[in-house]
Amino acid sequence: MKITIKRYHPHFKPQYKDFTYEIPQNLTLLEALEYIKESIDNTLTFSKGCRSGVCGSCAVRVNEKEVLACEYKIEDGDKIEALNFIEPIRDLVVDIKKPLKTLKIAKTYLSKPNEISMNEKDEKLIRKQSDCILCAACYSSCPVFETNSNFLGPFALSRSYRYIADKREENKKEKIEAVISNGIFDCTLCGNCTVVCPQGIDPKRDILMIQSEALKYGYQNPNLSNFGSFGLDF
Ligand code: SF4
Ligand code: SF4
Ligand code: FES
Repeated sequence: MKITIKRYHPHFKPQYKDFTYEIPQNLTLLEALEYIKESIDNTLTFSKGCRSGVCGSCAVRVNEKEVLACEYKIEDGDKIEALNFIEPIRDLVVDIKKPLKTLKIAKTYLSKPNEISMNEKDEKLIRKQSDCILCAACYSSCPVFETNSNFLGPFALSRSYRYIADKREENKKEKIEAVISNGIFDCTLCGNCTVVCPQGIDPKRDILMIQSEALKYGYQNPNLSNFGSFGLDF
């Protein structure tokens, strides 16, 4: 079977070029990439780690949808490319540093923890978001980055909700304040992030939950006030 890889080199012109490779059947995408590197072209560059869906380092796009290369079974005619909206380094490798900075901007940590003990129900509320493996698949799938490269993005906002919902956090207002600018109200609620997450995390739902918390703290959704100016009062 054949697959096509959109390859990138910062010093070649054109920087992007499609290459088609003949590969054996029944391979995961990561196995196919390793096969190409070992048997056809040792310059092919890609990221890998655990090989079992845990480390998050192998996320790429197949036919314009984000997948983990170690979990995806390759099909004839697949087109493989690097994640969207993240600075490319070489071929399928991207520079994850900028997306990771969003975690700091969104203050995704406990700022002012109290001594309250957590019960099973409290922990369940914040457990799923903690499964994030920072693969950035959701980030790549998010259409907001087409127009706003400073958007905080789905994984940072989902993790933000994990700390806003944490019973031990006493400074929830600080957490919410951190995700207002380029954050929760910039999300279009398209749900792409939720669809592609290999961990079953639901950033769209977490963003909606923060929006609802933010309203309690007096923040307004600016998009709704724009509707108001067209005569649609909510
Ligand atoms: S739901 Fe929001 S954060 Fe998720 S992909 Fe859509 S616009 Fe981006
Ligand atoms: S929320 Fe899901 S898709 Fe996004 S970085 Fe975390 S594990 Fe990956
Ligand atoms: S190699 Fe670790 S998630 Fe794929």
